[in-house]
Parts: sequence; C-alpha cells; structure tokens
Amino acid sequence: MKKILLAVFASLMMVGAVSSVQAASDAEHPKDLSWGFEGFTGTYDRGALQRGFQIYKEVCSACHGVKYIAFRNLMEIGFSEEEAKAIAAEYIVAGDLDEYGDPTERAGKLFDYIPSPFPNDIAARAGNNGALPPDLSLMIKARPNGADYVYSLLTGYEDGHEVAAGMSYNSYFAGSEIAMGQPLFDDQVLYADGTEASLEQMSQDVVVFLAWAAEPTLEARHKAGFKVISFLLVLTILLYFSNKKVWAGIKAKKKED
Ligand code: HEC
Repeated sequence: MKKILLAVFASLMMVGAVSSVQAASDAEHPKDLSWGFEGFTGTYDRGALQRGFQIYKEVCSACHGVKYIAFRNLMEIGFSEEEAKAIAAEYIVAGDLDEYGDPTERAGKLFDYIPSPFPNDIAARAGNNGALPPDLSLMIKARPNGADYVYSLLTGYEDGHEVAAGMSYNSYFAGSEIAMGQPLFDDQVLYADGTEASLEQMSQDVVVFLAWAAEPTLEARHKAGFKVISFLLVLTILLYFSNKKVWAGIKAKKKED
C-alpha cells in the first residue's frame, strides 16, 4: 500500500514538473482553431491538402525538407499518378554510380523521397545565419497543439519590436525572437483552384498538409475504428436479445414455482 501511495505521489510530482516547464516558456498560447482532421471522425480536406503542398513547394521548401514523404505519397492527397510523376520529374535526385564510379543525377521518380533543400545540417545552418530550419515532416506532432502552434507562428509576426540582427519578432515562438523571417504574405501564391491566397488561408492550408505528413494514416485509422465500434454495437444488440431469449423460459418457469 505504502509503495502504491509513493508511486502515485511520484507521478503527481512528475506531472507538476512537466507543467511548470511548459509554464516557464514565455511564448503566447497558440490561437485555438478547429481543424477538419480533429476528433473521432476527422478527415483531411483534399483541397486544403493540395493547396498546402503548393505552399510547401513554392515557399517552405527553400529552407525546410519533408524527408519522410515520397512523391508516390502525393497520390494519397488527391494527385493523379501522372501529376505526381510530373511533380517528381521537376526535382533532381542522386542517381546510380556511372561506369567510372562517379555519382550521377537524374530526374525524380515516384518512389523517391522529396529531396531536402540542404545536403546536411551544417549547410542548412550556413544558409540561415546559423539557425537550423528543422525538417517539417513530423513538426505538427513534435510541438504541443502542433497545428494551432504552426498556424499561430506563421500568422504571428509583428513589426516594431527591438530584435537582434537577422531575427524577427513572433510572440508565439519561445523567447519571441525567431531566426525565420516571415515566410508568408497575402497573395504570395496563385492557387490553381481560385481560392484567395490570404495569409490566413495559406497558413491554414500548409498546416493541413503538414498534419497529413505527420500522420498520413489518420483517416484509415478512423475508418477502422468506426468499423470496430459498429461491429461491437451490433454484437451488443444481438447478445442482448439472445440473452433474453435463452433466459425467457427459465424465468417463466421460476415464476410458476
Ligand atoms: C528562408 C528560409 C525559411 C523559409 C522559406 C521558411 N522557414 Fe521555417 N524556419 C527557418 C529557420 C532558419 C528556422 C529556425 C528558427 C529558429 O530556430 O529560430 C525555421 C523554423 C521553423 C519552424 C519551427 C519553429 C519551432 O517551434 O522550432 C516551423 C514550424 C517552420 N519554420 C515552418 C515553416 C513553414 C510552414 C514555412 C513555409 C510557409 C517556412 N517555415 C518557411 C527558415 C525558413
């Protein structure tokens, strides 16, 4: 008993320590948005996913990779095979060694992973004033309230604050000084589906794309969960009635006695 109490006490202490660490960060709490992929029946909006990929490709990919996403995965977000092939072919990737053992390059193919903009972290830092632009594949999962946080970060830049050279002011980033200059501005891209490219719209779209990148199996999981729950529901109803039927005769007999 004493041991159990001690364990409970220790875990309470740990919870307290974790929340005080979070409270110690001076960053503003992210804006609270409602996302289509949240909740038990959540799915990703196909339009937002494709627009979000466009934002990633035309803006964020200058500095950030999404190394866990292959071109073939783009078919999961509604691109046709032809479209995914055409996107892959726009990239140059490392090919096999040639007959002299020298490295070669070739156009990307469906099975290739989307190449990152820098060959390694040192090169990435050298290109960004010493700061490392992290890979974005798992970013939404890596931060608390990831979707809200990244949206707030992208829409949270403010002018008129004193910051160190090369830094920008953003109250949603811990410390409020971030080495990433504001990446998105109104009308930065031209959306193929005619959606207005406001800062908020683009930020929302790229977050939906990154949420999918971090959890591409979410929809399949939700579907499987739904099937399991429906099955259990039907089973419960069947058991209820068969239970009633099995006991009906016995109960009637008991009453007679
Ligand atoms: C010109 C280069 C550049 C571009 C373009 C850029 N970023 Fe960044 N990004 C950075 C750098 C550098 C950092 C690291 C900032 C730091 O640690 O202060 C960063 C950090 C981040 C972070 C991590 C913040 C954290 O909590 O650590 C996210 C999320 C992010 N960027 C998202 C994006 C998205 C989404 C886009 C496209 C809309 C984008 N970035 C475009 C350079 C860039």
